[in-house]
Amino acid sequence: MLKIKKTFLKDSSYGSFDEYMASSKNLKALDNVQRSLSDIPTKYKNDLGWISIDKWASNQRLDELEKFAHEVQNKADVLVVVGVGGSNQGARAVIEAFRKQGLACDIVYAGINLSADYYNNLLKELADKEVYINVIAKNFETLEPGLGFRILKPFLEKKYGDQYQKHIIMTGTLGSPLEKLSKDQGYPFLIFPTDIGGRYSVFSDVGLFPLAVAGFNIKKLVNGARKMCKQLSTEENNDNLAYQYAAFRNYFLTQGYKLEVLGHFEPQLDLFGRWWTQLFAESEGKENKGLYPVALSYSEDLHSVGQYVQQGQKDLVETFIVIDTANSSLKVAPSEVKDGFDYLNGKDVWDINKVSEDSTMQAHYEVGVPVFEIHLDELSLETFGELFYFFEFSVYISGLILEVNPFNQPGVEAYKKLMFKGLGK
Ligand code: PA5
Repeated sequence: MLKIKKTFLKDSSYGSFDEYMASSKNLKALDNVQRSLSDIPTKYKNDLGWISIDKWASNQRLDELEKFAHEVQNKADVLVVVGVGGSNQGARAVIEAFRKQGLACDIVYAGINLSADYYNNLLKELADKEVYINVIAKNFETLEPGLGFRILKPFLEKKYGDQYQKHIIMTGTLGSPLEKLSKDQGYPFLIFPTDIGGRYSVFSDVGLFPLAVAGFNIKKLVNGARKMCKQLSTEENNDNLAYQYAAFRNYFLTQGYKLEVLGHFEPQLDLFGRWWTQLFAESEGKENKGLYPVALSYSEDLHSVGQYVQQGQKDLVETFIVIDTANSSLKVAPSEVKDGFDYLNGKDVWDINKVSEDSTMQAHYEVGVPVFEIHLDELSLETFGELFYFFEFSVYISGLILEVNPFNQPGVEAYKKLMFKGLGK
């Protein structure tokens, strides 16, 4: 269950913030987003496949994915997810959050960089294992997954001979060259919806298949998203949680703030921070607009970027993801060694972390950082589902308030032109 708490600069901020939230221009953005759920044609109708969860994550599709995932799970030691950006971040955030609880099939990543060293080590790691790969690419034009495929295909051919095709699962759009290639070569094919961009794709085959192979209950994740979808589609005006968050970000942007930190005190959320960074950077960072998104992992980052947040330029807002119920308990035993830490005797590590979290928010707030708290009662697959959907819905509203297209990323083309020229494409 997701809840929100706002701690702003000073009481006077609330007045002008309330006015900002009540402005008809901003409320229209919320209205437009909610109307998108009723199939009312909107400007972005070709990018909204994610907004009604059941379109690409119906119970029937989840059953089909689970069935296929079990087949792979039963045979594979490891699934290599080959994809970059939105093609892997959603699944990766969940897998890395819960990896330590054990995966039904190990998952490793390729197609995320262009490092020879990374690939050489990966090939060594895969040498003695039963390997399947899932190449995920909307159009299969991106260099990183293309290179990943070029490196892993000969590896699989050498390992499995004329049976190698069964070890390559492709996820691409229907009608794309990737689908044709898969048909020609006999690779199993999953669907990357044409009406969903990478960073919004976690609740489709893109994110759900690798998660199912890893052994996660994808129904729980999707149920969390469904719950959040229902809530955000019915909550009106200032009661709407996503609207509150979108308005918070944009209000402070209009007040001259430049950055948004997403902070959390659970390392389980580290990869979620990466997903969030991509979602907001690619959706809003265009036309010289938008808050620069920075994800921090506290308490570790209190010993690095925390210094800047406290005493650097006063141009950042901070959003915290707070987990309210202990997911783990560990008491600090008294010690006969005089180490100076007796004040920890008998305390639970969970509570120590909470004191650090509360103190950090207070200290940042006191020097003028506007703080926005997103509370989850626990960290589970269901609340992960809520969180993904909450931020997707929020960035859509936020993009409309900002008057940018939250579904394109034209800026990533500039370096590609130079790079492809350099590579002779
Ligand atoms: O969110 C997006 O659309 C992008 O970040 C893409 O996911 C990323 O660029 C990878 O694209 P593709 O799936 O076409 O390889």
